[in-house]
Order: sequence, then C-alpha cells, then structure tokens
Amino acid sequence: MISKFATPILHALNPETAHNITIASLKSGILTRKAPKPVSDLSFTLFGRVFPNPVGLAAGFDKNAEVIDSMLGYGFGFVEAGTVTPHPQYGNPKPRLFRDKKSRHIINRMGFNNQGLKTFDDHYEHFREHGKNKHGIVGINVGKNKKQEDALADYVSLVHHFGKKADYLTVNISSPNTPGLRDLQNPQELLPFLRQLVIVRNARCKTPLLVKFAPDLLKSECRDIAKCLMEAGVDGVVLTNTTLGRPDFLPESFRNEQGGLSGPALHERSRDIISLFYRETEGQLPIIGVGGIESAKTAYEKIKAGASLVQLYTGMIYHGPLIVRDINKGLSRLLKVDGYSNISEAIGKDAWNS
Ligand SMILES: Cc1cc2nc3c(=O)[nH]c(=O)nc-3n(C[C@H](O)[C@H](O)[C@H](O)COP(=O)(O)O)c2cc1C
Repeated sequence: MISKFATPILHALNPETAHNITIASLKSGILTRKAPKPVSDLSFTLFGRVFPNPVGLAAGFDKNAEVIDSMLGYGFGFVEAGTVTPHPQYGNPKPRLFRDKKSRHIINRMGFNNQGLKTFDDHYEHFREHGKNKHGIVGINVGKNKKQEDALADYVSLVHHFGKKADYLTVNISSPNTPGLRDLQNPQELLPFLRQLVIVRNARCKTPLLVKFAPDLLKSECRDIAKCLMEAGVDGVVLTNTTLGRPDFLPESFRNEQGGLSGPALHERSRDIISLFYRETEGQLPIIGVGGIESAKTAYEKIKAGASLVQLYTGMIYHGPLIVRDINKGLSRLLKVDGYSNISEAIGKDAWNS
C-alpha cells in the first residue's frame, strides 16, 4: 500500500500481515512527507478548524495512532485514528480480514483489536510533539471493550480522556463485530446515552462530538436517530460504517465470511443515508460521508448528498495512498464544471433529489 509498486506485493500476502507490514514501515517515519499545501477551492472551515481538503482517512486503518503523521503527509485533509478502547484487546480470532481483489471489497471482523488508551495516547502525544504534520486535523474514534457490560462507562472515560486532545471525537456504536454494540443505535437507548456523553464533554471541553452509524438502518430508524442527535446536542455524524449486506455479485466463498463489508458496493447506500440525514436535520448537522469512495466522482456525490467531509479506507487499500491526491485533483475539476468556487458551496446540493 505504501506506493503503487508495493501494492501488488502486499496484496500477495495474507491481508492482516500486509496491513501490519504497512503500518510498521510507515511508522518508522523515514518516508513521512510534509503535507501538501492546501488548495483554495478545497479548503474550508468546519468545527472551528480550517480543513486543507475534505478527504480524510477513515477509522480502523490506524487503530493505535501510529501513522497519523505519515497519512497527513500523503495529503489526507484529516485522519480519524482508532477505534481505541480503554483497555488493550486482541479482537476476534484470526483470520478476520478478507479481500476480494477483483471487486475491490473487504470483509472484516477484527473486533476492535487495539493496544488500548494508554499506548494510543503515547503515540498520539509523540505525533503532536514531533510530527512533521503535528498541526494536522485528527479525530479520535472511541469504542467499548468487548467484556465491558456498562458501555456508557467506557465511552465516558474515553470522552473524558481524549476530549481535550482530539480535534473531534467519534463515538463508534456501529461496528458489527462487537456483540450488542449496534443496539445503542436504537433511539430509546441512544438519546439518554448521548445526553450523558454531551454532559461529560461539556464539563471538560468544547471538542466536537460525532456519532458513527451503520448503513443497515431502516429509513424510519434514520429519521428517529436524526431527531435524537439534534435533541442530544451532538455536533455531527459519521455515515457510514461497514455493512452486513452482501450483494449477489460477490463470489460465494468471500460473501459467506462474517463481518462488515466495505468497498464500492457501499457507496450508494451510504450516499442515500447521508441525504436522508441531511434533509431530516435541514443541513444543520455536519456529516462526514464514508463508504465505497474510490474516485472524485463518488466523493463528490457524497458531498452533494450532504456530506461536509468525506473519508475512505478500502479505496486506499486497492489504489494506494496517492488516491487522495487524485481525488482532490478530480474534485477541483468537478467544482469548476459545476461553477462553484469552493467545495463548501456543493454541500447538500443534491440532497433533495434522491
Ligand atoms: C479492516 C477495517 C477495519 C475497520 N475498523 C474500524 C474501526 O475500528 N472503527 C470504525 O469506526 N470503523 C472501522 N472500519 C470502517 C471504516 O472506517 C469505514 O466506515 C468503512 O470501511 C467504509 O468505508 P470504505 O468503503 O471506504 O472502506 C473498518 C474498516 C475496515 C475495512
């Protein structure tokens, strides 16, 4: 994944080994570059910060905050690190990461494997002190430990701990790989849960608090959730996580693996959920759009559906990290075609068309 040339070699390896090698080589920092200069038509202010461009790295790639600097150096406008849980945990038994190279999809059932808050924090502080891109924008994505029955307690401690450190926090309640986690998306549970987290955040800082949802929600559920988010007073929403859905065209041996599917098949589903949330919240709640982005066209569609920012993960695995540079170039071209002078003018322009 490191370069166009390394991609085929890494793809010949077991997917998790390839991932670990990638992280280890990026982590050394030797190849880390200074982030490219922002381009005026793509940079804009959100959450009180100037984003150099709207294309971020989605959560799950850098679970332990080891390669933030390097990913900002490739030109990502922001990086979402995590999911981090309070305590280290192994995650699900291996194998738990599967690729279908032909269709460019991934299925994962990693199960929040991560080194825990303390190690994450050490890496994060090192980046903020020594990183070549130490002023870059970083979201911290938080989750609960598998064995923790009191989910709120884990999220409270993470919001408290990272509240003053992150540029924004994402409360991940949509991983399909932690039993019971997605139940928190149920509006009856969601509203009191988020109210508590907003209280904890308010007592500590003003850092924007976002919540990440699954693409497998019904339209009626999305409407109820959108109301909850407004009522609870959160600052944004990340749409969407991986799906439990399995399109027919995927090869049988791949589609039978349990876990969350990511890649191109997710694009339309997440785009439609983005426009639904945008309409329901009348564009008042910033949306980070994620799912199946691997071109400027798909990124732009998400923005026009209502996303203020976008993220990708799977697209980078199949196309390499320079995908972000290509998407940004393409976004500038698409803006010109539509006659916009800044990306912020395109947000939500197609939200009422779907
Ligand atoms: C291997 C893998 C691990 C992931 N781990 C996380 C995670 O820890 N937390 C999270 O919020 N999302 C996680 N995701 C979901 C991504 O952040 C993203 O929402 C999803 O993959 C859809 O985007 P994509 O099609 O661009 O990959 C993971 C995705 C993959 C492929």
